[in-house]
Amino acid sequence: MGPGAADCSASCPFSGGRGSALDFPVGQIRRVAAGGPDPRGDVDETKRNVLKLLAVAGIVGAGTGGLGGGAIQYLQPPTIGISSYPRVQLLDVDGSPLTVAKVESEYSAETADLFLFYYPLRNEPNFLLNLYPASGTPNGQNGAENVPGGIGTHQSIVAYSAICQHLGCPAPAIAYYPPGTCPQTPGGKAFYIHCSCHGSTYDVTNGASNLTGPAVLPLPQVVLVTDQTGNTAGNIFATSMVGPPVNGHLNTLQGDYGVGATSQIAKESPVILCNFPT
Ligand code: FES
Repeated sequence: MGPGAADCSASCPFSGGRGSALDFPVGQIRRVAAGGPDPRGDVDETKRNVLKLLAVAGIVGAGTGGLGGGAIQYLQPPTIGISSYPRVQLLDVDGSPLTVAKVESEYSAETADLFLFYYPLRNEPNFLLNLYPASGTPNGQNGAENVPGGIGTHQSIVAYSAICQHLGCPAPAIAYYPPGTCPQTPGGKAFYIHCSCHGSTYDVTNGASNLTGPAVLPLPQVVLVTDQTGNTAGNIFATSMVGPPVNGHLNTLQGDYGVGATSQIAKESPVILCNFPT
């Protein structure tokens, strides 16, 4: 089994390697602050659940005349998460603040590598995309502008969850395919996000809606803003997510600790398989 195959179903054809930064099962709870609450204010509900158990045990015991009446045999599993969406500053791969100017000079619709950041939790990766083409004015086949939720000069900078809404294959098994990557053009689109596990494809120009199944839900979209009026320049921040919950999570805010005040872009090589459902 390849290093990434554990994240896919038995039929997943993906067997390529990937960086250690993404090497964990989707939805896994990782306890990084053993023995106490996370210093950044994350919610560890273990103590809360124990208190609930003790309260219920007390009620049952009082009603039956002793602890023998308590038939509680299990504890509710602990849930780790955050209580609301944080405002998180994005950092470029070199650790410097990510600005609109940097994204527009370094990334484009033709960029083949994946640029990923975690938000809002440490096990929720997202694609950062600039859909404006470096080769010139977008014509629908080489890139896009005025994209829903897009920021920047051309409203072309967007971010979507990098966990497939079908069975949860994460990037790089799910990847952005620049124009011309595969001969197929699902929904007439020349560029899209495609999952190599079972072929789901998502429209990056329209809220990551489904172009091909088996997934039926869109990818959640990260709400991006800048620290300047109009969001056409300045430092970039993630402030929330819209759409369905990140796959593998009860909701997008539960399943791991929060990323903290900043989240740095990581570069990955995509897995490309032109295996679209027919
Ligand atoms: S996990 Fe099945 S298509 Fe992505």
